[in-house]
Amino acid sequence: MAYTDFQDFLSRLEREGDLKRIARTVDTDLEITEVSDRVMKMPGGGPALLFEHPGNCEMPLAINVFGSRKRMSMALGVDDFEEIACEIENLLKPEVPRGMLNAARELLPKLALLSKCPPRYQTGPGRCQEVIMQGEHVDLGHLPILKCWPQDGGKYITLPLVFTHDPETGKRNVGMYRVQVYDRCTTGMHWQLHKVGAEHMRGYAEKRRPIDVAIVLGGDPALTYSATAPLPAGIDEMLFAGFLRKKPVTLVPAITVDIQVPEDAEIVIEGRIDPSEQRMEGPFGDHTGYYSLADMYPVLHLTAITHRKKAIYPATIVGKPPMEDGWLGKATERIFLPLVKLTLPEILDMNLPVEGIFHNIALIKIRKRYPGHAFKVMHALWGLGQMMFTKMIMIFDEDVDVQNVGECLWRLGNNIDPERDTCVVRGPVDMLDHASRLPGYGSKIGFDCTHKLAGEGFQREWPDVITMREDVIRKVNGIWKELGL
Ligand SMILES: Cc1cc2nc3c(=O)[nH]c(=O)nc-3n(C[C@H](O)[C@H](O)[C@H](O)COP(=O)(O)O)c2cc1C
Repeated sequence: MAYTDFQDFLSRLEREGDLKRIARTVDTDLEITEVSDRVMKMPGGGPALLFEHPGNCEMPLAINVFGSRKRMSMALGVDDFEEIACEIENLLKPEVPRGMLNAARELLPKLALLSKCPPRYQTGPGRCQEVIMQGEHVDLGHLPILKCWPQDGGKYITLPLVFTHDPETGKRNVGMYRVQVYDRCTTGMHWQLHKVGAEHMRGYAEKRRPIDVAIVLGGDPALTYSATAPLPAGIDEMLFAGFLRKKPVTLVPAITVDIQVPEDAEIVIEGRIDPSEQRMEGPFGDHTGYYSLADMYPVLHLTAITHRKKAIYPATIVGKPPMEDGWLGKATERIFLPLVKLTLPEILDMNLPVEGIFHNIALIKIRKRYPGHAFKVMHALWGLGQMMFTKMIMIFDEDVDVQNVGECLWRLGNNIDPERDTCVVRGPVDMLDHASRLPGYGSKIGFDCTHKLAGEGFQREWPDVITMREDVIRKVNGIWKELGL
């Protein structure tokens, strides 16, 4: 069952004993971060938190709502987010059903599901527009926006769904890009160079026109997840959210910009960016665990803020892993694996360990079939959407459990001749990479940790991994209890 809105999701978390209310006042300036950071680092991710009195603001603040495997799965309406990967795999199955009856049995449910995906458009006002601030009344001071870390350049909206449209095609994009508050009606817009929002703005810059922007907070949590998902440009996040929640997203017109926004959102911030205007954004304590450096980014001038009468402000903090956003990343790893396999069927599994903060380390398991296969997979991944940011790709054989980082390090150490089995390439890197020679441009390395073939010039014998003989294992199983160990 889809959630009716963000507060419906919070109620469900509370019923499950997975949300803790905090009644006493906790300051939005660093203190909520300190509390939330400690909770996010508890074994299993701690509970979601509802700060009923964040600083001197009347609006409550919810945080860590995606911060465990269970809550991330609940956010997507499933018992475990692996189910969504299975569903996608099933949808992508290329087999043509044999016979009319099988066709009806297999294809009709798929078509019924897909018919629920596209968003529905309604005339307003939506629930997100119960309270409207416009003109001189626009004031971000009504929202409990966090200053997360001591060296941050200011307060940041940390869980924003940023809606824009392509100036040529009119296609919508929704991305999650942090928003720095400059004053009551002016903010930054941290869409990085390679992201779709930035590409939309470049299109408006060419036409010398301002770009309309709507920043949405809340709504069904499937919407929030969709804004973070690395969907190819042109695939509508609201369509994807409809697929995830198995119910169309309802959209209503924003008040002052030409954008349709989710009717069930808690808060909508509307505004315009003049592509020729930039201002210093940052520093910001980022998900790398380091501060991302200040840099020039576009400036958003607000035209309206709308919200529900009893809105709850959704937030997160990022920092040294493990953090809440690690679960958003894990969900993406699992949900997008079938799509990666569509292009690269030799990939059997992948693990983007949380310490690798999504784009630093990818552990990939393949069925190796021919000389150079591992290198082919690395290059293909570096060419695949946001996988282009992966700084280190390690390719393993099919008998390796890539979910076991210890096993991967053991194989990495043993199986490579560094000069022969690594491949360094240059290209785009994540804008948050502070070690690269230039912002957004640097190098990436691949490690071929698979067994080596004669066809790769390997003339020596490749040794077996040590394992016990089956008969001995069976015998010891039989006497194990007697040994009292
Ligand atoms: C909590 C969180 C904060 C993020 N902040 C930013 C950000 O400030 N700038 C950015 O470009 N990407 C940020 N991202 C990553 C993007 O949301 C992600 O790459 C997304 O797929 C971009 O969407 P797009 O492909 O439609 O541009 C963030 C992700 C999360 C989970």
